[in-house]
Amino acid sequence: MPKEKIITGIDIGSTRVSTTIASVSESKVSVVGVSGDITSKGINKGNVIDIDSAVEAIAQSLEKAERMAGVSVSKAFVTINGSHIETLNSHGVVAVAPNQTSEISKDDVARVIEAAQAVSLPSTREVIHVIPRDFAIDSLEGIKDPVGMSGVRLEVETNIIHGSSIAMKNIIRCVNQVGVEVEELVYTGIASSEAVLTDTEKELGVLLVDIGGGTTSMIAFLDGSPVHSAVLPIGGRLVTSDLAIGLRSRLEDAEKIKLRLSNEALIGKAMDNVKRDEEFDISEFNLEIERIPRNMLYKIIDARLEEIFRLIALEVVKVNLVGKLPAGVVVTGGGSLTAGVERSAKVNLKMPVRIGTPKGVTGLIDEIQGPSSAAGVGAILYGTKLYRGGSLLSFDEHRGNMKKSVSKIIDKLRSFLP
Ligand SMILES: Nc1ncnc2c1ncn2[C@@H]1O[C@H](COP(=O)(O)OP(=O)(O)OP(=O)(O)O)[C@@H](O)[C@H]1O
Ligand SMILES: [Mg+2]
Repeated sequence: MPKEKIITGIDIGSTRVSTTIASVSESKVSVVGVSGDITSKGINKGNVIDIDSAVEAIAQSLEKAERMAGVSVSKAFVTINGSHIETLNSHGVVAVAPNQTSEISKDDVARVIEAAQAVSLPSTREVIHVIPRDFAIDSLEGIKDPVGMSGVRLEVETNIIHGSSIAMKNIIRCVNQVGVEVEELVYTGIASSEAVLTDTEKELGVLLVDIGGGTTSMIAFLDGSPVHSAVLPIGGRLVTSDLAIGLRSRLEDAEKIKLRLSNEALIGKAMDNVKRDEEFDISEFNLEIERIPRNMLYKIIDARLEEIFRLIALEVVKVNLVGKLPAGVVVTGGGSLTAGVERSAKVNLKMPVRIGTPKGVTGLIDEIQGPSSAAGVGAILYGTKLYRGGSLLSFDEHRGNMKKSVSKIIDKLRSFLP
């Protein structure tokens, strides 16, 4: 295994595109290049709506990160997001192929996962992730890695995350146009969870919520593995437009007011002094009024946050996860910095809440320590798992036509076993 490998993550968000380049060894993931805040173009609610503009923003972000890292990127893990993302849990069962040692082989595991994958998705849909949750051998359940065990009947429970083929093709096309191959598409929820969730939270049962500019991505974990994912087509941008309507201001000014209020709330929280009653000075924006009671701004913001968290609560009820997530909700993404998020999440979801920031990397951490970097950092950590699991070593040349050998697929899947 080479000592160090460059792994790149590109998070194509609705408001910003961020490229993160890391040098990965057996023991650490060191960030060596980041693009910072490159405004996204041609992306709406997670979907590409204008290829040329999207390509321009991706190219800008890539160049900036490459310059900082002093490397030229040829492949990347790229996030995919949007309300087309759906999920299902599927069961697979096969007879173990007889062999001399009567042990379950990698091939048996590949076959059972393939059997679980044989669900009928419409031709417009494509699988993004197949995550084995649990194996059973001859009805003995709860087995995490069956290779090498004895038995005649192998079963698996998987969580499949799938998306619109067109949406996926468009993202791949944009990235290819900047001369980069897509090593894997990674659902934003999966990526962010790699960066902000702890193993204990995943094991206990937790809901991750990534509030971006145009989307809110969710993913729930039980017993260490994902069980449900969904994306709402709403995010922080709507908070800004609500404020713009309320204040009769330009969107740019409303965004500045939102950020200032949110930063102040963050500092206030740290000092246990969140001001809600006093007036807020907005004289610099030349609006109809020069000062506004903070409570009025909070009312506007709270209404939108309540809508977001109530929709999430409905989803939790719909998929029967009420009472099953003792580790509560971890909120991340740029929108998690909005003033009042923690309180609103607590009230509307009735679960413990924390704000998740990316962890697990070293190097240029100042640039990537905020929650809006969760998906970008997570894409790198996802790639790192594959690399360390041995499955990134040699299928590089074949990515174009997606040909991977069975054992590489298994190596990949095993990298993600809880
Ligand atoms: N300090 C802050 N306070 C409040 N809101 C913030 C702050 N920083 C960023 N945001 C908001 O976060 C949102 C952008 O978050 P993020 O960068 O995670 O989105 P994105 O990944 O581009 O979008 P998406 O994931 O929806 O495609 C914007 O609406 C922005 O106003
Ligand atoms: Mg995002």
